[in-house]
Amino acid sequence: MASIKLTINNQVRTLDVDPEMPLLWAIRDVVGLTGTKFGCGIAQCGACTVHLDGAPTRSCSVPVSAAASSKITTIEGISKNGDHPVQKAWIEHQVPQCGYCQSGQIMSAVALLKQNPKPSDEEIDTAMQGNICRCGTYNRIRQAIHTASATISAAPKMPKSTPKIGKR
Ligand code: FES
Ligand code: FES
Repeated sequence: MASIKLTINNQVRTLDVDPEMPLLWAIRDVVGLTGTKFGCGIAQCGACTVHLDGAPTRSCSVPVSAAASSKITTIEGISKNGDHPVQKAWIEHQVPQCGYCQSGQIMSAVALLKQNPKPSDEEIDTAMQGNICRCGTYNRIRQAIHTASATISAAPKMPKSTPKIGKR
């Protein structure tokens, strides 16, 4: 056992765990954030996807000790009230069927749109191919990503710096 500090959803947590424990176990069973799901356990299905420093990562296949230096974001951390544009688009298009894969799908979609705010169908398929859906919701996922993309693109941008108001 070791004392490991994790930064999850901007909160620092100190866990007393086996350093080799999969990050997914730590997130779900130790921290209690159960939005991230266990599917295959071998980095093949994407159900356990979280972000490590913004990059979509299969948490079932990362030792908890390897995540200690990263900023971890789970599905619970992408918005306060479930109102991230991707989450809203998922509802609008009624994407989930059984729902089991959807937390991982959303995490991959959020990461994709950060990297590429206006992805083509082909780019969506490439980015999302590691997320398996046994219910076959792929078409709706693609539509929802386009809707979220449009919402994000239409949102007013924050100015990079506040203009200085001074004497002439
Ligand atoms: S549970 Fe991690 S990829 Fe399937
Ligand atoms: S919605 Fe059932 S596995 Fe994707």
